[in-house]
Amino acid sequence: MIDKYGRTISYLRISLTDKCNLRCRYCMPPGTVEKKPHSDIISEEEIISCVKAAVNLGIKKIRLTGGEPLIKKNIINIVKKIKSVQGVEELCLTTNGVLLSKLARDLKSAGLDRINISIDSLNEEKYKYITGGGNIKDVLEGIDVAYKTGFKKIKLNVVLIGGFNDDEIEDFANMTIDRDIDVRFIELMPMYDSGDFDKNAFIPYTVVLDKLKNRNLEVIEKDGGVAKLYKIPNAKGNIGLISPVNNHFCSECNRIRLTADGKIKPCLHSSDEINIKGLDDIQMKKKLEEAIYKKPEKHDELSYTSRSKAHRNMNQIGG
Ligand code: GTP
Ligand code: 5AD
Ligand code: SF4
Repeated sequence: MIDKYGRTISYLRISLTDKCNLRCRYCMPPGTVEKKPHSDIISEEEIISCVKAAVNLGIKKIRLTGGEPLIKKNIINIVKKIKSVQGVEELCLTTNGVLLSKLARDLKSAGLDRINISIDSLNEEKYKYITGGGNIKDVLEGIDVAYKTGFKKIKLNVVLIGGFNDDEIEDFANMTIDRDIDVRFIELMPMYDSGDFDKNAFIPYTVVLDKLKNRNLEVIEKDGGVAKLYKIPNAKGNIGLISPVNNHFCSECNRIRLTADGKIKPCLHSSDEINIKGLDDIQMKKKLEEAIYKKPEKHDELSYTSRSKAHRNMNQIGG
């Protein structure tokens, strides 16, 4: 479906749960995580009904997110069911990678096409700090197993945090040399509550280009995603820069979101939400059309002092 501003909406991000087995400080800051009663969570049937309606309206790509989608007990079944909906051309997943070494093979057999994995530090202690207790070895093993299982175009998401991981930019970039895996640096978005980061933590994507200026980066054509792409000469994978704060991509935004509590969010940074729980298939399609119609042209400026209007933490939206 084409929205009011001429954008073709073809991508639905589904947050399967707001729960997570990690506690990244910018996403689930200490003290902000509330428990939701079970009845608030969207059912598997409602998810499938939403996917069918979405496909009817021209959605072609689905991404499963969280919280952490791999902690859902029925994740393999959900992947199978969504992939079997006619019209779903690409089914992707964004994960923290902790459970990936155990699940990668089953996810592949169930029909999952692509995986993006979050990893904000390669240092054991720093990783533990930023994720509130995670073990970097689990994630590195998850990446290895996913790669060996044959997943193509794996992307590693690194949230850029000034004073925390800007000294690791080169180490991350070097991860693209030997394997066809992309590393994408994402500007830290000032959410409703992004934890205890000070102003200096919010650094622009251009810092990455500065740090890599001696590596003769080649500019690569975009792959349909939001990242600007570069390559170290002869590297197998690409380096991506995602700049939601300093160079937002609203004019080319092609997505809507479904939250784990059954709300369609036409825009990540808006408080507009449309409930789709308890609807039949016909009502579902109508509501989705309404949501796409309501998609704003762009979000308000984001900065340290002008925060996202989403009024949810990222684990309750799905990134
Ligand atoms: P690909 O399908 O591989 O292009 O993945 P993706 O970039 O769509 O998904 P992913 O879950 O890996 O998200 C990467 C980063 O982009 C995350 O930090 C998201 O929060 C951010 N992001 C995704 N969609 C939007 C959006 O609509 N607006 C903004 N501002 N940021 C977004
Ligand atoms: N700013 C930028 N990226 C974020 N993510 C979560 N919260 C933020 C934020 N405030 C990222 C995660 C994951 C993706 C889905 O969103 O690290 O890679
Ligand atoms: Fe969990 Fe991802 Fe949020 Fe980290 S960023 S707490 S891994 S949902």
